[in-house]
Amino acid sequence: MDIVLGLQWGDEGKGKFIDLISQNYDIVARFNGGANAGHSIERNEKRITLKSLPSGIFMEGVENIIGAGMVLDPVNFKQEVLKLQSFDATIQVEKYLAISKKTHLVLPTHSLLDVFMEENPSYHTIGTTKNGIGQAYANKVLRQNVRVGDIMKPDFKEMINHILERDYKQLIEYGQKLPPLKNLKNDFFDAVEFLKRFRMIEAEVFLNNSIKDGKNILAEGAQATLLDIDHGTYPYVTSSTTIASGACSGLGISPKKVGEIYGVTKAYCTRVGNGVFPTELFDELGDEIRTKGNEFGSNTGRPRRVGWLDLPALKYAVMINGVTQLVLTKADVLNGFESIAVCTHYQMENHPSKVISGLAGNEGEIPVLQWIKGWNTDFTKCKDASSLPTELTQFLEFLEKELEIPVSYLSTGPGREEIIRMN
Ligand code: GDP
Ligand code: IMO
Ligand code: MG
Repeated sequence: MDIVLGLQWGDEGKGKFIDLISQNYDIVARFNGGANAGHSIERNEKRITLKSLPSGIFMEGVENIIGAGMVLDPVNFKQEVLKLQSFDATIQVEKYLAISKKTHLVLPTHSLLDVFMEENPSYHTIGTTKNGIGQAYANKVLRQNVRVGDIMKPDFKEMINHILERDYKQLIEYGQKLPPLKNLKNDFFDAVEFLKRFRMIEAEVFLNNSIKDGKNILAEGAQATLLDIDHGTYPYVTSSTTIASGACSGLGISPKKVGEIYGVTKAYCTRVGNGVFPTELFDELGDEIRTKGNEFGSNTGRPRRVGWLDLPALKYAVMINGVTQLVLTKADVLNGFESIAVCTHYQMENHPSKVISGLAGNEGEIPVLQWIKGWNTDFTKCKDASSLPTELTQFLEFLEKELEIPVSYLSTGPGREEIIRMN
């Protein structure tokens, strides 16, 4: 099993890369998160954003799995499948998608509770996607939630009614404005009927048998390392394990079976939502990168915060995941800049000799920037590593030396063909 995951705060271009390399795999399996993800894929100059569906769904013959480590919102899932089918009627979602019976469900009140917590001043405002992700994972850990496999049980409706009525009552007590409970229930049960069209399987058994049969599996990460519940910039993180080990726990596959670990990073940083971002740009340069890079949330449409590449953070992400190959995206967005900056290390304001790690977000930590000469080329003419401008080649060599891993792919645009295999 190979793994693809994000090394920053999400939206590195995982979807585009997975769509491309899924042709080398028999199975693409999502292992974490849910509809908080937004993985954009371009087809015939049209763009679609996948939320809960794995990014191998466009590749004829590739099996796609929603793994046990994910949380699935049936209402959102139904909308996503219908949207995908209107985007491209030839995609056979029912044929090529299977869902783990152990995947936890996101219930309608989870999203409402997410909104309540985000808007109530007595809680941290995380800047969540308001998809109820944290609430679903919290209830899973509390052992109070329901899973995909439960939808076939005779008392499923009763279980759901009980939870929805309990949560709804609580939300009313909190003074929340709510849609009628009847509507929430109807939409949810409709969507559950829709969900029943799909195969519900013991995904861990299927995946392990597939490995035995010599099949290649690609594990698709959502969110990214710095949003990981344990190793990210807590509390401004998501609620799942986004790192390489999450692929093993989320899919039920031994770490012994892991092969390549592809880490995807942009040539700069972005972040949506709150939390530490030491290299963030607040000036016109930041606005320019945001506009050129179309840095607006694929999922929520929120403007993404933009900043320079943070090398200490990237080294940390490579270490935590054991990344074996780097995928660098958005080199085209920095095209034409006279010079670009990279944060090489951090210093304490009053102790310049004391080098610290950054990310803790402590007062007085200063990112130290190194300016390098930018590149300027027509990327449509760059088809291989030898046709890249010298400045970009030097930048890639600099990253390889610092991170001690090869840059295997360089993405130069959102399109499927806009990528260069480097080795
Ligand atoms: P993901 O969540 O990691 O899959 O990334 P998103 O899809 O949320 O965000 C990445 C955005 O950048 C999408 O709109 C992609 O189409 C686009 N994209 C991916 N790679 C590149 C690239 O190399 N250059 C440019 N300009 N856009 C890219
Ligand atoms: P992909 O897979 C970028 C961020 C939210 C918020 C925090 C918690 O497209 O890279 P949540 O809704 O998960 O409880 O929100 O995590 N976040 C993402 N940011 N890309 C994502 O996914 C994200 N998924 C969650 O903005 O700061
Ligand atoms: Mg995204």
